Amino acid sequence: MFLGLTGVAAGEAEKIHQISAELCKTCHQEVYRQWSGSMHAKSTALSDPIHGAFYQTEVGDPTQEGQIHKKSGKFPVCLQCHAPNAARDKTTKLDAKPAYSEGVNCVACHTLTNYKGIRGEDGKLRLGLQSYELSEKLQAPQGFNRGLQQLTASGDLFGGAAASGGDSKKPNPHLGEAVEFEGKKIPALPMEGNPTQMKTNNACMGCHDQRDNPHGVPLCLTGSEYNMSKSDVNCLACHMPIAEGVADHSMGGGHNPGMLKRSVVFDLTTQRDGDNIKAKVLLKNQQPHSLPTGAPFRNIYLKLSAYNDKGEILWENAAGHPAESDAQAYLVYVMADDAGKPAPPPEATKLGKDTRLKPHEERTLQYQIPAKGVVLVRGELYYNLMWPQLAKRFEQLPEELRAPILIAEAERAMPSP
Ligand code: HEC
Ligand code: HEC
Ligand code: HEC
Ligand code: HEC
Ligand code: HEC
Repeated sequence: MFLGLTGVAAGEAEKIHQISAELCKTCHQEVYRQWSGSMHAKSTALSDPIHGAFYQTEVGDPTQEGQIHKKSGKFPVCLQCHAPNAARDKTTKLDAKPAYSEGVNCVACHTLTNYKGIRGEDGKLRLGLQSYELSEKLQAPQGFNRGLQQLTASGDLFGGAAASGGDSKKPNPHLGEAVEFEGKKIPALPMEGNPTQMKTNNACMGCHDQRDNPHGVPLCLTGSEYNMSKSDVNCLACHMPIAEGVADHSMGGGHNPGMLKRSVVFDLTTQRDGDNIKAKVLLKNQQPHSLPTGAPFRNIYLKLSAYNDKGEILWENAAGHPAESDAQAYLVYVMADDAGKPAPPPEATKLGKDTRLKPHEERTLQYQIPAKGVVLVRGELYYNLMWPQLAKRFEQLPEELRAPILIAEAERAMPSP
């Protein structure tokens, strides 16, 4: 008996949303490689340690069946975005199938169709999968428009490429029939072109627009931020740039140093003013969403230091973290309790201050530095996946997730007066 790549006996047809990315990898190796390094491939509690830590507290064990979201008593809503194929099968045992543990895998995105928006008629949020219609056919940016070819009887049903820059040597399983490739039997993977879904923000918004905590306080607002910017440049333009002819599936964000470096224009100007140096720090958000965006605990802070000719610090904007002593240098979105004190995301009852850069905002921070002995002024911008108090609480997490990441730097030498 033939056993398919997914371990399912031939004939025992798998539902499309149960198909593992490993099957797609057979032919789409480059896209697979990009996707497998992305947070989409690590989005479940089994493979994202930060999400996993919250999931364990708010829900429970991701390898057990029958888990519920403790606060609501319902099927964990998390899975509608973090493990969509498991949500489709209403299971919480995420290690039961590769298609579950792979999180936001190929079929999770490529079977979403007709985005309905995240507000239901009752005004309540419908999140992730709930905001889409789901298809049993793969959804593609273009698909295979073979009508004319078939009319003129030159159709080659089992081969041939799309207009997209793929590998035309491979048999095409998207035309309605099973195919064989490198000795493997590939089931039919029917596909339809759906550019309104697959080439627009609709492909992303169901999971990335807005999500509230149990008290109705928004946890993330990337979609609303974007709408506020009135931008027409879509998410794909930046998050899926064309590289070597194909839409890049790496989809970097806060976990991707390259994306973080290009997110901001950071510059420093200095001017002597009597006994002082006037320093101006320029911050420009390049995005049509906030900087930082996404999960509420993302934050950025500025370190500005003045050095003498031995490289010793004579002045700095804040000793240690600037949260207390130089609030303007801390770009953060605070969630608060009834008393207005910072609170963890699940417990917050209201919004605190939001000092992040608004979409496309340009901001200048000003400093007065005592000039005596100063030969160099240096600015550094640090991105953090977590608030400092959270990084401390989750000491068990790997260092690279808790440590600040330098995303921009600038220096100005001070000529002697
Ligand atoms: C987060 C959602 C998402 C995931 C996950 C995803 N895709 Fe895509 N994919 C898209 C979107 C959106 C496009 C359309 C890009 C465009 O045309 O602008 C696309 C395009 C493609 C294309 C056409 C590329 C081109 O430029 O010709 C292929 C092939 C593809 N995906 C295969 C895969 C495979 C294989 C996987 C899993 C390894 C995968 N996708 C995972 C959203 C996704
Ligand atoms: C046996 C090889 C094979 C397998 C397995 C396979 N594909 Fe394809 N796929 C092709 C070929 C051939 C094309 C057309 C040429 C190209 O664009 O690469 C294609 C094209 C595509 C496109 C682009 C269509 C467009 O509009 O341009 C998408 C999206 C896609 N495949 C998704 C998937 C997904 C998701 C899987 C796994 C569920 C998968 N494919 C599995 C061979 C395969
Ligand atoms: C089915 C839900 C879903 C869809 C559709 C989806 N995403 Fe995601 N995306 C997620 C989840 C869940 C994560 C977070 C994974 C984690 O950190 O645990 C994520 C992570 C990301 C990140 C990385 C964040 C980081 O921490 O580095 C980026 C960037 C991103 N998505 C962009 C996109 C874009 C662009 C699209 C549309 C083409 C898209 N996503 C479609 C669910 C989705
Ligand atoms: C002009 C380019 C650009 C556009 C357009 C854009 N982004 Fe981003 N996005 C970035 C950059 C750069 C970052 C990294 C800095 C940051 O986190 O803000 C990022 C970060 C993100 C993250 C990571 C958040 C996290 O928690 O780590 C998500 C999610 C995201 N974008 C989603 C989207 C969505 C959804 C859209 C469309 C509505 C979109 N982006 C449009 C450039 C862009
Ligand atoms: C509407 C879709 C959606 C739902 C529902 C959802 N999340 Fe997320 N979550 C995301 C996306 C998208 C990201 C990553 C990008 C960002 O920061 O916006 C993310 C990121 C996270 C992160 C940060 C992960 C990291 O790597 O830094 C944690 C923690 C998290 N989610 C926990 C949860 C928990 C727990 C639940 C259920 C109670 C849940 N989420 C429900 C979409 C969702």
